[in-house]
Amino acid sequence: MAKKVAGASLGPFPFADVEADSGLVSDVPEQLPEEHADADLVSALPSAPMAMGLSNLRLYKGFWLPEWSVPAAVALQRRFEPRRDDVIVASFPKSGTTWVNALTFATMARRAYPAADAGHPLLRLNPHQCIPFLEGLLGSRRGEAKLEALPSPRLMNTHMPLAMMPRTAAPPPGGGGCKVVYVCREPKDMVVSRWHFHRRLHPELPFADVFEAVCSGAVAYGPAWDHMLGYWSASTARPDSVLFLRYEDLLRDPAEHVRALARFVGLPFSGAEEDAGVVDDIVKLCSFGHLKNLEANKTGNLNPMLPIPRDALFRKGVAGDWANHMTPEMARRLDEIVADKLHAVGLAFHEGRLD
Ligand code: A3P
Repeated sequence: MAKKVAGASLGPFPFADVEADSGLVSDVPEQLPEEHADADLVSALPSAPMAMGLSNLRLYKGFWLPEWSVPAAVALQRRFEPRRDDVIVASFPKSGTTWVNALTFATMARRAYPAADAGHPLLRLNPHQCIPFLEGLLGSRRGEAKLEALPSPRLMNTHMPLAMMPRTAAPPPGGGGCKVVYVCREPKDMVVSRWHFHRRLHPELPFADVFEAVCSGAVAYGPAWDHMLGYWSASTARPDSVLFLRYEDLLRDPAEHVRALARFVGLPFSGAEEDAGVVDDIVKLCSFGHLKNLEANKTGNLNPMLPIPRDALFRKGVAGDWANHMTPEMARRLDEIVADKLHAVGLAFHEGRLD
């Protein structure tokens, strides 16, 4: 399972492998923690149907969470123990999560798994199989035990807003002092990506339904702008703890952002690695064209809770596709909502850039 060099662990390791090799916590009974027994907890929260029909939404601490994930949000606050060397990839759905998961995994794990190796885990596993999804594990005793049993450094993924992780990226003593890599995407393209994704389950889903849900804020993990603002504010206040990436910037110059990512997680590329082309190897390994055509990303479903084919994660991978789906009026409306919400902190999207 865990590779070691000179006694030092070289994680993170692909979560699917760690889980399969050790069984991790096979002796922990599958038992739901107390928040599941607290029927009032979820049922007392305001609810809204999810436009895409996947789950009801519940308004919890100002965010519309999928109903099933509320216990995970509670567990994050009550029990999740961040470690100082944890790294969490956070995102609003359809903003480039899969790509940043792959880039972060390949960057952090490069000593154990050189990106150019024929046996690299990303050649046989979907990026989401390499990294545990926090809300898929928290809220179940066995899931939480699996997270605890993972060797350090742990690399994890979440769609939860920062408001649900108050102790995570804050410095000790109040916080865990771990690092968060956040990826943000131009909202109109995020809406289009979301519509295509959900159409894989509901082919008749009208684009206008998804558009209206995003505009209203009542969409899974929304409002989108509050999600971005939480991480943006934290990244400006504590740039050592929160790295704020933009999907469009990654498209424009992936190598530069992989270097920034490596510095951020405390593993900058050495001169020898630069000379050997390691950065380009990581960029190539994780590129859209490469990942999309791998068998691991062409077959199977995301997970039992979300029976959407994995290939739905790799659709087009470009900026500006909104222009093929939105009327100018829709685009103007969403731009205005976003500009209005972000204006207060001086953020704006200009041709895909968040300035
Ligand atoms: P599109 O639907 O616009 O193509 P997430 O991973 O958060 O669900 O985001 C999915 C979006 O990221 C999809 O956008 C998908 O095509 C794009 N994507 C996935 N892997 C990518 C990669 N390696 N490079 C660029 N974009 C990628």
